[in-house]
Amino acid sequence: MPQQVRGVVARGKGRPVGVETIVVPDPGPGEAVVKIQTCGVCHTDLHYREGGINDEFPFLLGHEAAGVVESVGEGVTDVAPGDFVILNWRAVCGKCRACLKGKPWYCFSTHNATQPMTLEDGTKLSPALGIGAFAEKTLVHSGQCTKVDPSVSPAAAGLLGCGVMAGIGAAVNTGAVTRGDSVAVIGCGGVGDAAIAGAKLAGATTIIAVDVDDRKLQWAKGIGATHTVNAKSGDPVTAIQDLTGGFGADVVIDAVGRPETWKQAFYARDLAGTVVLVGVPTPDMRIEMPLIDFFARGGALKSSWYGDCLPSRDFPYLVDLYQQGRLDLDAFVSERIALDQVEEAFERMHRGDVLRSVVVF
Ligand SMILES: NC(=O)c1ccc[n+]([C@@H]2O[C@H](COP(=O)([O-])OP(=O)(O)OC[C@H]3O[C@@H](n4cnc5c(N)ncnc54)[C@H](O)[C@@H]3O)[C@@H](O)[C@H]2O)c1
Ligand SMILES: [Zn+2]
Ligand SMILES: [Zn+2]
Repeated sequence: MPQQVRGVVARGKGRPVGVETIVVPDPGPGEAVVKIQTCGVCHTDLHYREGGINDEFPFLLGHEAAGVVESVGEGVTDVAPGDFVILNWRAVCGKCRACLKGKPWYCFSTHNATQPMTLEDGTKLSPALGIGAFAEKTLVHSGQCTKVDPSVSPAAAGLLGCGVMAGIGAAVNTGAVTRGDSVAVIGCGGVGDAAIAGAKLAGATTIIAVDVDDRKLQWAKGIGATHTVNAKSGDPVTAIQDLTGGFGADVVIDAVGRPETWKQAFYARDLAGTVVLVGVPTPDMRIEMPLIDFFARGGALKSSWYGDCLPSRDFPYLVDLYQQGRLDLDAFVSERIALDQVEEAFERMHRGDVLRSVVVF
């Protein structure tokens, strides 16, 4: 029997989100229904609400979640009812050209549930990143459920489902930060701070946090930044160069995703250095730069989708590091909120009051 549960729906560009009744079908072949325990508020949810991702309203928001599998459809063998899982938005297909090349973290044909969740009147919902977890229950593809040790705090572990994984992976997987590297991270929200945590795990010795908000810089220091730069009080490019012997950083991560921050990242890196764009730009954004600068400076200009992660590989090992006290996921949980407080959480995110607000059911 399809179930009626409460979920956070965005009905139109810039319109405040609200809790509505949504209909979750029984899982079909390959699908699972997951009872959500926690779901973090990621900036990407706000991008959806603002129409910055696409126009397929109404959206069922939320995609950074942990929960327990309630039921599975035909043919599902990798997870079973009762399993504690982190939801992922990279259920790899195993068959596309990326998967066949042995690079499944680029999978171009990831699985989502095939049946739609709907509003009570039958209107189809677009679940954010194919998840839609600001809801008491959600329907996903079983491959989107990554089993991890059930003894961890769901509020902390669930953050690996998006922002924290994206940030750590931007540093470790995409940026290939290694021991002795200098790293600068522009934008120290949940994603940027996770990139700082990743750079620290990988052995970077100089980790420069750049933000426009002193509170964020303070938190970034707590996570592992060795230096901080407030981009409002001077040119961050010069500041990063000054902190790296005049050269620039080996890896610069743009966790904001605007033309000005990407340009800063480009010029604040050392010759042959790497830029990683993990912040998500909107389709209207443009950049104009001398082509010779791209050639003359060498190096690599990369984008990081979901930190180039492989959930089945990366979630369990990051949970291990968390349990061993080597990755402080709790530091990312600024507050626990109720389902009807997501709109206020967007405002607090906008004001810079939080790293992550986490909806707890
Ligand atoms: N690539 C991916 O797979 C992926 C995954 C998750 C999130 N994201 C994206 O990453 C970005 C960051 O997400 P978040 O949840 O950390 O957001 P957030 O709002 O928590 O953090 C953004 C931070 O950037 C800072 N900032 C804003 N303008 C700045 C500027 N000009 N210079 C320096 N700092 C500036 C803000 O003060 C804030 O601390 C978003 O664009 C989000 O959509 C990407
Ligand atoms: Zn694939
Ligand atoms: Zn996200």
